[in-house]
Amino acid sequence: MSQYNKSKTIIANWKMNPKSYSEAINLLDAYIENINNNKINLNNINFIIAPPAIYLQAIFLKLQKFNICLSAQNICWENQGAFTGELSASSFKSIGCEFAIIGHSERRIYNKEIDELIAKKCLVAINAGLTPIVCVGETKVEFDNQETWRVLTRQLEFLKNINTHFLVAYEPVWAIGTGVSADLAYIAKITDYIRDIFNSKNIKILYGGSVNEVNAKEIFQLQNLDGALVGGASLDAEQFAKICG
Ligand code: PGA
Repeated sequence: MSQYNKSKTIIANWKMNPKSYSEAINLLDAYIENINNNKINLNNINFIIAPPAIYLQAIFLKLQKFNICLSAQNICWENQGAFTGELSASSFKSIGCEFAIIGHSERRIYNKEIDELIAKKCLVAINAGLTPIVCVGETKVEFDNQETWRVLTRQLEFLKNINTHFLVAYEPVWAIGTGVSADLAYIAKITDYIRDIFNSKNIKILYGGSVNEVNAKEIFQLQNLDGALVGGASLDAEQFAKICG
């Protein structure tokens, strides 16, 4: 069983990968092999994997003796009922998940998720006993128009009313999957801004957007930042172990 309370948090967001059950298990085996080979001490980091929901239970059973937590990539805005094709926060909790990613930019863009829906999902997650990982970040157009602060303030507003622990992942949309992360000074500035909004709250702030084995060390050295949400690089077990190590 996992313990979540370390200073550094690293989340592997597998998104809609790998494309089959056997490949997912192979990736997990490769994680375990690389964790051992690189002597990564899982007692020093909050190591969270967010695989596609369909692989979660098998991964949970395989990981039980490791200090690794599991997260849903998305949950329904309601917790039970006639919502064909949706998955509830309680059902994730019942198969061993402790976290739920909410409001990822890919869901905001492709599924047209708006702030009100994201706020609702957050409450549903908390009520079911999941810790929300709320993703925020500006698009390229918003960045170019210097609207970042306005966008973040709007996206974070509802969290002011939440008094349990949560995580905020700052993921500028223009940095996700591009190979080019935001620069360190910029990440530091945004992290300070988010920290100021929630100064008295028990939260963790992560950065996401093209984190890889080359830039991870510097990113983790940022004083005010608690870790990273990693997409593409988390699909390569060797590279991901280097990010964690
Ligand atoms: P990336 O994705 O690391 O591939 O940029 C991050 C994310 O979308 O969470």
